[in-house]
Order: sequence, then structure tokens, then C-alpha cells
Amino acid sequence: MNKIIMVTGGAGFIGSNFIKFMLNKYQDYKIINFDKLTYAGNLRNLSSAENNPNYYFVKGDIASEKDVKSIFEEFSPDYVVNFAAETHVDRSIMDSTAFIMTNVVGTQLLLDSARTNQIKKFVHISTDEVYGSLGQEGTFNENSPIKPNSPYSASKASSDLLVRAAWKTYGLNVNITRCSNNYGPLQFPEKLIPLMINNANNNKELPVYGNGTNVRDWIHVEDHCSAIDLVLHEGVPGSVYNIGADNEWKNIEIVKTILRHMNKPESLIRFVTDRPGHDLRYAIDSSKIQKDLGWKPQIEFSDGLKSTIDWYLSHSEWIEEIVKGDYVNYYKQMYEER
Ligand SMILES: NC(=O)c1ccc[n+]([C@@H]2O[C@H](COP(=O)([O-])OP(=O)(O)OC[C@H]3O[C@@H](n4cnc5c(N)ncnc54)[C@H](O)[C@@H]3O)[C@@H](O)[C@H]2O)c1
Repeated sequence: MNKIIMVTGGAGFIGSNFIKFMLNKYQDYKIINFDKLTYAGNLRNLSSAENNPNYYFVKGDIASEKDVKSIFEEFSPDYVVNFAAETHVDRSIMDSTAFIMTNVVGTQLLLDSARTNQIKKFVHISTDEVYGSLGQEGTFNENSPIKPNSPYSASKASSDLLVRAAWKTYGLNVNITRCSNNYGPLQFPEKLIPLMINNANNNKELPVYGNGTNVRDWIHVEDHCSAIDLVLHEGVPGSVYNIGADNEWKNIEIVKTILRHMNKPESLIRFVTDRPGHDLRYAIDSSKIQKDLGWKPQIEFSDGLKSTIDWYLSHSEWIEEIVKGDYVNYYKQMYEER
């Protein structure tokens, strides 16, 4: 079966991993990568796909009506998988404008074109952060109330509600996935795991928010990709699926594990003023996708973390290229001047 799949935000961390996953798995699918190439988007992430005749890249902005209309006209996609987003909580706290434009307005423009072009399915990639924060106990399931706490998670929650409205109002076939924290290759090094690896490798301080006891639930990006693939093909119309690997860690434990793997001293750790509104704990109940669609995460955290560290250590040229310009100023503002 020939399918044309438009992947938005395909030059970012999860999108680029997903495109490679799909091109490897399906030789008869065409993948259109529609990406604005913000600071977080890097076509180097997809250099291995460049010569694949089933892969197309188009630079464009999901928050531009003109760009969105023209990509639908040019390619008539059957499916849209929407990864495009502003994604970093700290940046959303400094200025939320781009988060509202891309995550909210952009998602609505995509939904409008998806509907008028009568696509077969719209898969919206969301996050467990829309549920807000947990105490020491419990997990989020698909019926947990939406209670976002940061401008980032509020913008993602808004887009989830717009996707739900497109299903309820117009009957657009949609799925929403809400995944826990991803790790793996090709993640922009402002996020916890690559930031800590990169700093440790350069013998720089490792900034840890508060006392480091915030808990995140980690999943390897490949496991996230296999879950999205399954939702795309078998997700029940209108359904939300939580995706997680049941793998909770305190931030400080992650940082110490990375240092141990890299033979670096814990004296590199520097505790910095906590992030405002910092969610204490996320934990995802993914029993619905496991039971209904038969998905299971495959990658053990200890193996995945080790291979992720090795990947960043052997891709210093990728890090140098991506960590430039505004990131350097941003890093200074976030961590060094505090
Ligand atoms: N990283 C995680 O742990 C995680 C967990 C759960 C869900 N998610 C969701 O997965 C998606 C991808 O996350 P990521 O970590 O890969 O993000 P990322 O920041 O690495 O990449 C985002 C991509 O979107 C592109 N983009 C941004 N604005 C755009 C616009 N207006 N038009 C077109 N393209 C635009 C960027 O250029 C970049 O390539 C996001 O929707 C995020 O909310 C991420």
C-alpha cells in the first residue's frame, strides 16, 4: 500500500528519529518532512535519508496559512504526524510567543487543511506534561485531568484540545499520543541528558535545578517511534494513547549515573535556583496502548543510556554544529548568570 505521510517538525529530535524509523520499515511510503528549521531543527539529523527517493524535505512554517496550504496542495498527504513544536520549558518561561504561534495556531492551521483536504488520519504528538504534576504516588492515565503548569505544557494542552475539537466537530480522524520524557541520539543539547553528557565531556559544571529530586519517566526515542507507528496504523479514531516505559528516575540520579558512566567526578554538579513552577513528578500509565494495540517498550534503560552517552561522545561535530548562535547566549542566561 502506498502512503504519503507528512511529518511536521521532522528535523528535530523525535521527528528525525521517526522519519528514519519509517523509511527503514516501509519501502513504499513517501515521507514529506515539513519543518521551519528553528534553532532545534537540523537537516544533518537526516543526512542518511537525503538520497532516499521516498524522502522529501520542504522548509515551511506550520503557523503560516500560506505555507500550510501550499504543502497540502503540492503533496496531498494521506496522513499527518504533527511533531512540530516549540519544546523547551525554560524558553517558554522566558517568552511564550513562539509557543503560542507554533503549538496552538500552527496546530489549528494544520487541522483546517487536514480537514479540507480530507486526509485519512491526523496523529498529534503530545506530552505527559499536559497532565501537570504528580505527588509521590500515582500515575497519569488517559482520563487524568489536563492541568498544565508551564507555558509550554499549556500550549501543548491547548493544541490537544483543538485536535479533540476537530474530531468531535468535524469528524476528522485523529489520535493524540502523550509520551513521557524521551532520550536518545539527536536531541538538542539543552535538554537534561545531552546537556549533562556534553558538559561533563567538556569538564563544565552540570547545572541541576533545585535539589535534583524532581522525577521524570524516561523512554528511549526508538520505543516512542514504534508506538507512534502503531497508533498511525491501528489507533482507534478519536483516541488518546499514553506512551511510557515505566522508568522513573530523580534528575539527580540520572546526572550521577551519567557521571559514573563517563568516569567524571560528582564535584562537577552545581545546584541552581529551581525552575519556576517546576513539576515535581511525572509518571505515565501506558497500559491502554499495551493492551489495545499490543505495544511494548523494548529498550532497557541501562543499555539505552549507555548507547546514548556513546553516541554523543562520538558525535562531537554534530554537537558543535548544533550548539551555536542563540544557544550560547541562552545557556549563559539560563545557567551561568544565575
Ligand atoms: N522531547 C521529549 O521528551 C518529548 C516528550 C513527549 C512529547 N514530545 C513532543 O514531541 C514533539 C517533538 O519534540 P522534540 O523533542 O523532537 O522537539 P525538537 O525541539 O527537537 O524539534 C522540534 C522541531 O519542530 C520544528 N518546528 C518548530 N516550530 C515550527 C514551525 N512553526 N513550523 C514547522 N516546524 C517547526 C523545529 O525546527 C524542530 O525541527 C513535540 O511536539 C513535543 O511536544 C517531546
